[in-house]
Amino acid sequence: TRTIDLAVIPGDGIGPEVVAEGLKVLEAVLEGNDVQVATTQYDLGAARWHRTGETLTDEDLESIKQHEAILLGAVGDPSVPSGVLERGLLLKLRFALDHYVNLRPNKYYPGVPTPLANPGDIDFLVVREGTEGLYCGNGGVVREGTPHEIATEVSVNTAYGVERVVRYAFEKANARPRKKLTYVHKHNVLVNAGHLWRRTVEAVSAEYPEVSVDYLHVDAATIFLVTDPGRFDVMVTDNLFGDILTDEAGAITGGVGLAASGNINPDRVYPSMFEPIHGSAPDIAGKQLADPIATIASVVLLLDHLGLGAEARRVEAAIDQDMAARAAAAAEGAPFARSTGEVGDAVAAIVRQG
Ligand code: IPM
Ligand code: MN
Repeated sequence: TRTIDLAVIPGDGIGPEVVAEGLKVLEAVLEGNDVQVATTQYDLGAARWHRTGETLTDEDLESIKQHEAILLGAVGDPSVPSGVLERGLLLKLRFALDHYVNLRPNKYYPGVPTPLANPGDIDFLVVREGTEGLYCGNGGVVREGTPHEIATEVSVNTAYGVERVVRYAFEKANARPRKKLTYVHKHNVLVNAGHLWRRTVEAVSAEYPEVSVDYLHVDAATIFLVTDPGRFDVMVTDNLFGDILTDEAGAITGGVGLAASGNINPDRVYPSMFEPIHGSAPDIAGKQLADPIATIASVVLLLDHLGLGAEARRVEAAIDQDMAARAAAAAEGAPFARSTGEVGDAVAAIVRQG
């Protein structure tokens, strides 16, 4: 029997509610299987910070590192100054565990309500860089609070960091039927980082002759996401552009409540971390109103990462079925009105049958 040693960070807001459903489905798919899951819950987030002033201690980090993978709900709370938990907990984990790939798949399930009049066939993968760019915390403030204040955040892009994430994106594109890679930047303005990205993509593309490469400035990419999202297969971009574009990608495919992510360390030196792309949604926390599908879809990425492809496909099929039920309800004008727990129960039940 194999035991998956999973660190669980429910976090803030709706985090605990959606994580509970992710674990429910994970357990369901492993039932009657030779694989078990052992979870260790970590008390991290706003409550811990209020109690102790700590976000993520060295001991927490060392302990989390001992696990095979991490499932995280959401981080952030209005009662904590903006940035404290985001930087001190979530980004600290991504940086310390060298999650240089932030993998964000986007798929549109026909019939699911979307703001697009004509969504077409949407099925693409965003490979967002996770350890560099404007997220490094590189910069500072001088003359703070005066009319002469100057605040800077300097985007860090290393040849090493750009190449490894670009290479990962080429690998992904090469393995998909359409074999198309779109890289997104703003090299007409950001001539330093932009040109490093451009040269890197050109150099790596020589090793993947079957992958067709396309470039978009980030502003144009935001347009194509709503006018022609079907053009995208694999997209690769930097940390901040990827953050923004994946919220938009979530919105066009039915909302961020459906959008999954994996913070991956492909070299497996450190555990990878799976989380919905949405935030803690404090306004609806504790009300069983959150959609757990984004977390359940993150469990699919977790299963794939652990080499449990058959189990991943079963959960994926169950999500497809739940989405079909939603589409059918929408077609009858019925609003989607199930609790977080009911959605998890429904998906777990389908998984058990399958
Ligand atoms: C995300 C979130 C985070 C990010 C925040 C909470 C730090 O928006 O996972 O997309 O900006 O990466
Ligand atoms: Mn985001």
